[in-house]
Amino acid sequence: MDEMKPKMVIGLMSGTSCDSIDAALCEVYPDMRVKLVKGINWKYPVHIRAKIFQIFKGEASVQDICQMNFAIGKCFSDAANVLIEEFGKPDLISSHGQTIFHYPKDDKLDDISLRSTCQIGESSVIAKNTGCLTASNFREADMALGGEGAPLVCFADEKWFRPLKKNVLVQNIGGISNVTVISQEHPTYGFDTGLGNIAIDYCVQKFFNKPYDKDGVLANEGVVSDNWLEILLQDEYYLKNPPKTTGREYFSPEYIERTLRLAPSEPKDIIATLTALTAKTIVKAYENFIFPDTSIDEVIVGGGGAYNPTLMNFIKKYLPKHIELKTHEDYGISNNFKEAMAFALLGYCTYYNIPNNMPECTGASCRTVLGKLSN
Ligand SMILES: Nc1ncnc2c1ncn2[C@@H]1O[C@H](COP(=O)(O)OP(=O)(O)O)[C@@H](O)[C@H]1O
Ligand SMILES: [Mg+2]
Repeated sequence: MDEMKPKMVIGLMSGTSCDSIDAALCEVYPDMRVKLVKGINWKYPVHIRAKIFQIFKGEASVQDICQMNFAIGKCFSDAANVLIEEFGKPDLISSHGQTIFHYPKDDKLDDISLRSTCQIGESSVIAKNTGCLTASNFREADMALGGEGAPLVCFADEKWFRPLKKNVLVQNIGGISNVTVISQEHPTYGFDTGLGNIAIDYCVQKFFNKPYDKDGVLANEGVVSDNWLEILLQDEYYLKNPPKTTGREYFSPEYIERTLRLAPSEPKDIIATLTALTAKTIVKAYENFIFPDTSIDEVIVGGGGAYNPTLMNFIKKYLPKHIELKTHEDYGISNNFKEAMAFALLGYCTYYNIPNNMPECTGASCRTVLGKLSN
C-alpha cells in the first residue's frame, strides 16, 4: 500500500431532503482529520428535482431511473466543477450519490433476501466530466455483509469526536435523523432515530408553498397538539431496537398524509407539532436505548436541523438538564457540510484500502472497505 499522505478530496452528498448537492473541498490527513477548504450547496435544476421526487413516490419507470442515474451524475459533476474551477483538480472525488431506495428489511423472494439499497448519480459520469478519480457506492458492501448500509457517518464521528474524551451523542438532523454514540464505556455505535425534516418540509410545502420552515418561524408561531403528538409517537419504528435505519420508503408521502387525518386544523400547529415530534423522538430514542447504560455529557447536533432554532429549543426542553446541547460549529465543523466532509473521509479510506464501515453502527458481520473507484 502507498504511504498515506494528505489528499485534496471533494466530498459530494445529497441527502433524503434533496435540498441541495453539498460539495465540500477538503484536505484529508492520514490521522483522519478533515479540514474544509470551501463548501457549496448546489441546487438541482427544478425538473431534475421534480423527477427525483417522482421516483420517491414510486411513479417513475425503469427508463426514468436509468436516465436519472446519468443526469444526477452530471449534476454532481457540475457541483464539483464549480470548486474545480476555483481551486483546480483534487486528488479524489468521493460521491455518496442520491439515495432513491433503501430497503434493509429481510423480505425474501424464492428464499433470496431482498435487502438492498440504491444510490444513483453514475460515478463514471462524474469521473469523466471532472477528469478526477471518483469513489462512490459506499453502502452496498456493508449491506452485502448483512449490515443496514447506514449510518455510515459514524466512522467520521468516531475519528473526529472520540478525541474529546467525553461521552457525546452526535446527532444529525437531515431528512431523517441519526445518532452516533461515543462513550468511554462502549465501542461507538449508532442508528437512525427516525424523522428529521422530511415531514416538516412536506407540510410546509403543502400548506405554505415554501420549501422549508426557515429558522423555525412557522413552528414557533404554532401551538403543539399534545394529542396528535402522542398518536404520532406510537409509531412502531420508534420502539424497534437498534441497529435500525429508515428512509423515505417508510416515512413516505402516504405515511404523512395518513397521519394528517388526525392533525389539528391550524397549519402552523401542524408544523409546530411535527417539529416537536422530531425533537421528542430523538430524545425518546436516547431514553429508551442509550441513557439506560451510558451517561452522556453532551449532544452535538449537525445537519440542516441545527439551523432551526425552534427544533433546537424543543430538544433542549426535552433533554435532561445536565446534558449540554451544542452544534458541530462549536467544534469548528460546519453543520451544513459535515456529511459531505464525512464522505470525503470515507473516499480517502477507499483510496488507501482502509476499512471504513463500523459494524457496531450498521450490524454488518465484519469490517470492510466501502466504496468503488472509477476513473
Ligand atoms: N435555516 C433553516 N431553518 C430551518 N430549517 C432548515 C434551515 N436550513 C436547513 N433546514 C432544514 O434542513 C434540511 C436540509 O438538511 P440536510 O442536513 O441537508 O438534510 P439531508 O442530509 O437530508 O439533505 C432542509 O430541508 C430544511 O428542512
Ligand atoms: Mg441536504
